[in-house]
Amino acid sequence: MTPGSGLSPNVHHLETSATIAISQEAKRRKAAGEDVIDLGAGEPDFPTPALPSDAGVRAIREGKTHYPANEGILELRAAAAKHLSLLSGGRPVNADNIVVSNGSKQSLFNVCFTLFGPGDVVAIPAPAWVSYPQIVYLSRARPVLVPGEPEWSLKVSVRDLDRVVPGARGLILCSPCNPTGAVYTQAEIKAIARTVGAGGEREGPTGRAPRPRSSICRTTCSSASWSSTG
Ligand SMILES: Cc1ncc(COP(=O)(O)O)c(C=O)c1O
Repeated sequence: MTPGSGLSPNVHHLETSATIAISQEAKRRKAAGEDVIDLGAGEPDFPTPALPSDAGVRAIREGKTHYPANEGILELRAAAAKHLSLLSGGRPVNADNIVVSNGSKQSLFNVCFTLFGPGDVVAIPAPAWVSYPQIVYLSRARPVLVPGEPEWSLKVSVRDLDRVVPGARGLILCSPCNPTGAVYTQAEIKAIARTVGAGGEREGPTGRAPRPRSSICRTTCSSASWSSTG
């Protein structure tokens, strides 16, 4: 989008999705008879399993088609809290801190829009999922890509973050990472969280009151694992 397009500055930085562009190109070449492996947009190649499909149909038949609470159905949030607690070795997880949305992309947008604004810099370890910089731009903040270390599975360290974006307002860390598949260990994530969270109150962008620096939001998605991306 360009400033002359008549659209709001909110979308001036937005670019066409690179993954969709690759998939379209792959389709075009396949149609032309080329032998192509499409590594663009990825989604499961199996049908949606019966468990979520049947539950969805049952819920509609039972009339669960009206407005739920904005933060999600309480029973679902409680079940998610229980699951996350089991995954973290029994550490209590409070359902009050869980929001169910209609997708990870939506959640990431909500988080960025709520926490970032003009003048903020947000660090994104690269290579990264193509939507991250776009979502940061939509919150009017500036994404800065931090190249991962090739000899370290393309992960970034505390040192890389400090070197490339000292004082970044936020960090979007993906583990297991799309597209590299790299997984950060618990110790690595803790070290990064300590560094990003350190610093206490930081000055807000010009004209705004200082804002506390440390908020950790975790987004988890189930669309791909349950083949329900649509
Ligand atoms: C890292 C990452 N986060 C989020 C998403 C999108 O999740 P959802 O379909 O739940 O919006 C994708 C989809 O490719 C992804 O790769």
